[in-house]
Amino acid sequence: MTERPRIILDCDPGVDDAMAIIAAARWADLVGITTVAGNVELEHTTANACRMRELLGLDVEVHAGAEGPLVGAQEFAHEVHGATGLGSLVLPDPARGADSDDAVGWLVETTRAEEGLHLVPIGPLTNVALALRADPGMADRVSSITLMGGAALSVGNVTAAAEFNVYADPEAADEVFRSSAPLTMLGLNLTHQVRMGSAHGRVCATFGTPVGDAMAELLEFYTTFHVAEEETEDGPVHDPCAVLAVTHPHLFDMESRPVHVEVDGTHTRGMTVVDERGPRAEGPHNCDVAYGADAEALIDLVMQAVRDA
Ligand code: RIB
Ligand code: CA
Repeated sequence: MTERPRIILDCDPGVDDAMAIIAAARWADLVGITTVAGNVELEHTTANACRMRELLGLDVEVHAGAEGPLVGAQEFAHEVHGATGLGSLVLPDPARGADSDDAVGWLVETTRAEEGLHLVPIGPLTNVALALRADPGMADRVSSITLMGGAALSVGNVTAAAEFNVYADPEAADEVFRSSAPLTMLGLNLTHQVRMGSAHGRVCATFGTPVGDAMAELLEFYTTFHVAEEETEDGPVHDPCAVLAVTHPHLFDMESRPVHVEVDGTHTRGMTVVDERGPRAEGPHNCDVAYGADAEALIDLVMQAVRDA
């Protein structure tokens, strides 16, 4: 069996972040979890990461990070993830809390102690930007920064132009995209192709396990939002895509592109501007951008992770 990639998950649980933790527990070698404010407040994202750690019986550290963006107003997504972040899923309060409130220091320390880790941010990029400020050399020590965020082909969810993780802290995203780190971007143009809903939830409920039941509840809540918002019977499972892009890269179609983050635009603040002009593209091709994936295979991997948990 090939070695499972060693990853650090930086997240804002968050319904789909919770799914990503399940996927990471099964398919990656999860080194640790850092949390950031995003979908909901930091106290909830951190408690939810600790709840998922206990649900999955993981022995990994959880370190709390930034309470808000580098500059500007704070954005939340309570309407998508519920008041405390896991929708209608109620998990016991964690017996073990966060191992520190210094996610940034832990990111720097851990990537110094071990080169070649994959950093997988699936929330606003505040912690990652602060860690790169504290130690720019982190960009050269990680195997990748594989992030769920942004979008190619002008797809937005929070605004017509911007995706939530980038929109919630555009300055942080701009610093990450201007770093020399090896970036891979799983944007909305990709994640909207990978959709799960109540039908998958009903299968999870047949597993007769706490994780199966939790996933069924997460999917039920998530679908309800998307049925109301998008009139679809399923919803894009954004965050697991970033984990699986590290563990199963052969299932994705990537193209190298120049990508810039707009921080000033009246209508475009938080947009990831992907230069699609081919030979005429300007600037360094700083990011591998995902355009396609074997969505069915990805969904099977998520379902297997739930089944095997
Ligand atoms: O735009 C989708 C992203 O924003 C996902 O990571 C979701 O969890 C929210 O953080
Ligand atoms: Ca997230």
